[in-house]
Amino acid sequence: MCGIVGYAGRRPGKPIILDGLRRLEYRGYDSAGIVLVEDDGLESVRAVGNLDALFATCGQSTSEATVGLGHTRWATHGRPSDENAHPHDDCTGRVSIVLNGIVENYKELRAQLTERGHTLTSETDAEVVAHLIEERIGGGLTTAVRETVGLLDGHYALCAVSADEPEIVVGTRDQAPLIVGVGDDEMFFASAIPAFMAHTRTVIFLEDGDVVTLRAEGAEFCDVGGAPLVREETVVQWDDDAAEKGGYETFMLKEIHEQPAALRDTLAGRLLEDGTVDLSEVGIGDEMLRRVRRVFIVACGTSYNAGLIVSYAIEQLARVPVQIDVASEFRYREPVFGPDTLVIGITQSGETADTLAAMKLAREAGSPVLALCNVMGSQATRDADYVLFTRAGLEIGVAATKTHTSQVAALLLLALRLAWARGAQSEAELKRLGHELRAVPELVQQLLERDTAVNAIAQRYHDERFFLYLGRGMGFAVCLEGALKLKEISYIPTEAYAAGEMKHGPIALLDKESPVVVVADDSPIFPKLVSNIEEVRARGADVIAVATDGNEVIGELSRDVLWVPRCDHHLAPILTVVPLQLLAYHIATIKGLNVDQPRNLAKTVTVE
Ligand code: AGP
Repeated sequence: MCGIVGYAGRRPGKPIILDGLRRLEYRGYDSAGIVLVEDDGLESVRAVGNLDALFATCGQSTSEATVGLGHTRWATHGRPSDENAHPHDDCTGRVSIVLNGIVENYKELRAQLTERGHTLTSETDAEVVAHLIEERIGGGLTTAVRETVGLLDGHYALCAVSADEPEIVVGTRDQAPLIVGVGDDEMFFASAIPAFMAHTRTVIFLEDGDVVTLRAEGAEFCDVGGAPLVREETVVQWDDDAAEKGGYETFMLKEIHEQPAALRDTLAGRLLEDGTVDLSEVGIGDEMLRRVRRVFIVACGTSYNAGLIVSYAIEQLARVPVQIDVASEFRYREPVFGPDTLVIGITQSGETADTLAAMKLAREAGSPVLALCNVMGSQATRDADYVLFTRAGLEIGVAATKTHTSQVAALLLLALRLAWARGAQSEAELKRLGHELRAVPELVQQLLERDTAVNAIAQRYHDERFFLYLGRGMGFAVCLEGALKLKEISYIPTEAYAAGEMKHGPIALLDKESPVVVVADDSPIFPKLVSNIEEVRARGADVIAVATDGNEVIGELSRDVLWVPRCDHHLAPILTVVPLQLLAYHIATIKGLNVDQPRNLAKTVTVE
């Protein structure tokens, strides 16, 4: 949530900062701003709305300033407005800051500052930081930031510039992302790697409490007390093309089409030619997998849905009980677990505040914690005992697609290895499933080629006011994901229900106006689902089924069918979700909505 860019170099900073913001816009797009350290002081511009508004306000003017900051905001405290947009200045206009996260004690700090004669002009928690730095600026910007950090409660990343030290940018973080990019005679701060990927792939990951001073020649690290620190450089592999649309109209569509490659990369080197699974890179040995008495999955949103899908496979294949909870509930419900519970935190970004807090709670209780994550160096990967990476590449569209199917594939690998280690299935059966999983990326490729049929259905139904999604078992979990996709990008209300529960209430919603999407792949529970479909038809509702090629029963029962290739039912959720992603995508685009930046959302939710 919120994107920060900082630059200290020899080139004019403005276009570099604006380009960095463009690449971080997925993190928030309520308002944006930039501050440049000019010869005669600080020059700031802010604008409400997405970056186009900022570009329209400041795009034409040229600047030779080689130091500056930028920010793209997702509002936490204070509505989106020019005043609440970052950067925030102090009373003198000599200090300016940008912040991502929350300063929890800002009300108290604000009252104290007002008493001491400061005039604060915004409703934000962030503005207090500029004024606190102002009071301490006598010792220099780095010292002032260090001393200010000691006064703040919360979780945040912030960067500051001062007109009196025009060559530096100072940044710090506490439980919110901030990284340093090391260029050639230029240095960057950013919330995420894409911001500076066009200039450098050499990255330094900050630890909580690090205070970093950047100048063109390099970075100096110290702790809050001022003691110098040494931090390692890492070279990241991401491709800069990932931050471009590559000929697609939107990032979401591009990412939907990247799923075969993301799946292949996620399985590569882990799913071997003989169908067995090798997860030795994760560091969890079979001995440990045999000791696991229970698995507890915590995650939010789409990552939760991936966890729910595979919770069925883990129980069915490895015969280990699995519990799953949304992280925001888990952390406050006093969950019971211990050293024999394997806790899996699923988070593509590795930054989701609730998931991080849930993982921390589990570690404190002595449970081994595995992070399933897509972003190298992210907080989740540092907090966990073990890390299993999805290799989906950078995902920019706010609606998660390729990271979701990659999560399901990676978790299926874990389910297979767990089953193998525990001898819960025959080796032949596990190898058979392994071979089938190896074929899934190609099946997804074939599925994407059927998009015209999905688009035709979207054309027919895009004006509907409500969609009900029904499924059973893993199919129900896929329904949750399909319904989430449709509501988040098309703003059409949806409800996803376990089909067997329909008679206990939701059946009252059915009428001729409300289409019912049924995920009906060939699983052992299919015959039960047929009865549920009959119940829907009896109420006059149109059925749009997602079904396996050649299933004649479904063909007769449904008004429309989105066909998917045949595969083992444990793996089918990787296929059945794809037409639902496309259906949501087409309905939203027919309605003229911005699918990459749905209203009120941000890609990473770094606040509770
Ligand atoms: C999905 O389309 C979402 N926008 C959202 O639900 C997301 O999956 C959730 O915020 C979790 O994010 P994470 O995987 O980065 O933790």
